Amino acid sequence: MSKASSRSTWSNRWAFILVTIGSAVGLGNIWKFSYIAGASEGSVGVFIVVYMACVALIGLPLLMAEILIGRRGRGNPVAAMLNTAKESNNSSWWALLGWVGIFGALMILSFYSVVSGWMVDYFWQYLVKGVQVNTPEETRVAYEAMMADPRRLVFWHTVFMVLTAGVVARGVVSGIEIANKIMMPLLFLILILLTLWGAVAGDMPAALRFMFNLKIEAVKPGVVIDGMGHAFFSLSLGMGAIMAYGSYVDKQTNIGHTCLWIAVVGALIGLLCGAAIFSLTFGYGLTPSTGPGLILQTLPLAFSDMPGGRVFAIFFFLLVIFAAWTSSISLLEPFVSWLTERFGIRRAFAAWGTALPVWLLGVAVCLSFNEWAEFKVLGRILFEVLDQLATRFMMPLSGLAIAIYVGWRLGKVIVVDEIQLKQRTFTLWFNVLRFVVPVGITLVFLYELVLRDWFG
Ligand code: TRP
Repeated sequence: MSKASSRSTWSNRWAFILVTIGSAVGLGNIWKFSYIAGASEGSVGVFIVVYMACVALIGLPLLMAEILIGRRGRGNPVAAMLNTAKESNNSSWWALLGWVGIFGALMILSFYSVVSGWMVDYFWQYLVKGVQVNTPEETRVAYEAMMADPRRLVFWHTVFMVLTAGVVARGVVSGIEIANKIMMPLLFLILILLTLWGAVAGDMPAALRFMFNLKIEAVKPGVVIDGMGHAFFSLSLGMGAIMAYGSYVDKQTNIGHTCLWIAVVGALIGLLCGAAIFSLTFGYGLTPSTGPGLILQTLPLAFSDMPGGRVFAIFFFLLVIFAAWTSSISLLEPFVSWLTERFGIRRAFAAWGTALPVWLLGVAVCLSFNEWAEFKVLGRILFEVLDQLATRFMMPLSGLAIAIYVGWRLGKVIVVDEIQLKQRTFTLWFNVLRFVVPVGITLVFLYELVLRDWFG
């Protein structure tokens, strides 16, 4: 952190917005959103409303707070917490938050890369031979065949880790920024095509009815905390990723305006993906409640049925891979930036050296679907343990800590200096961060942990 002057910065404000949207939009929007929404059948509307409320009331304020810490602290998440804590005369224990972030992000990356691997697998299948499935049964069999084959899972997981580490190894501007600048516009384009196709060939009204059906009495345990967790996951919050990206933001960038862009575009893309996927799902008479394999078990049927479906499928999986890739980069970056800054290790070396243990944990995740499927903790396989630990607990709890830190401990002088907003907007944001965010997160926890028994 002593090398503050030699730290990279993004080329401009738009580059920062782009990479942060790149981090936010990922498997969360396409794979996770549709499968959790599908799984909370009957209470999807509640899940989505909680999700959107959390994006606006908790996610957006926290996004600003995280970027603030990163930029003020000018360093990787651990250093940024240490530097800002020192500047504001707070205990260096706050750096713990940075640690939770950089390790938590790697934990997420381990299963994230495995799921991304499924997407690369399907992409490859469509590219080389095309996939012809005619019944829901056939898609299910095809999906289960992949999940039962550890070598196949590990192979594509490996490919994906190599892609991720390869970009991070190249550095902030010539790796991360360039990758996003190439992939994100393509992603937007393919997504618009997909949504149009969903509207034409699918059943958009049914999708919207499904997504916004607010049956409060049907709320299942876990739906509310999942809605909040998903807001965190889909905005990449609480794990140091945004903090690390924020540390490469220059002084001129207006954090408030930038974040508004990121949250609005991120949530919009999420809803668009959901609408497109569900309208295809319903349009082809499929059910949206098949678990983590949802998009792989429903969409191939839609692809088989449409003219030029194979080309379309290739583009669709390309979209998912791009989205996942720009996100996984942001999961690896926090730890790598810590290694390079703390120990002066060369970036390439740090990136590959970090990728290796994460890859190993990912191999265990691959095995948790087949060979090791009997090993369960609280009825959950390793994959679910990692996912739920991160999404339901680590992210919201570290979000809570960040709100307390920036809202109550950092001191208004630093905060005002970093967040250049008009007085009224600033006051609104600051009060939401101080009161609404901590109370909101606590209430969700109380509701789920105390009032409902979803542990069983
Ligand atoms: N937001 C990404 C998605 O929706 C996942 C992600 C990237 C993430 N970086 C993160 C989640 C940091 C939590 C923390 O797919």
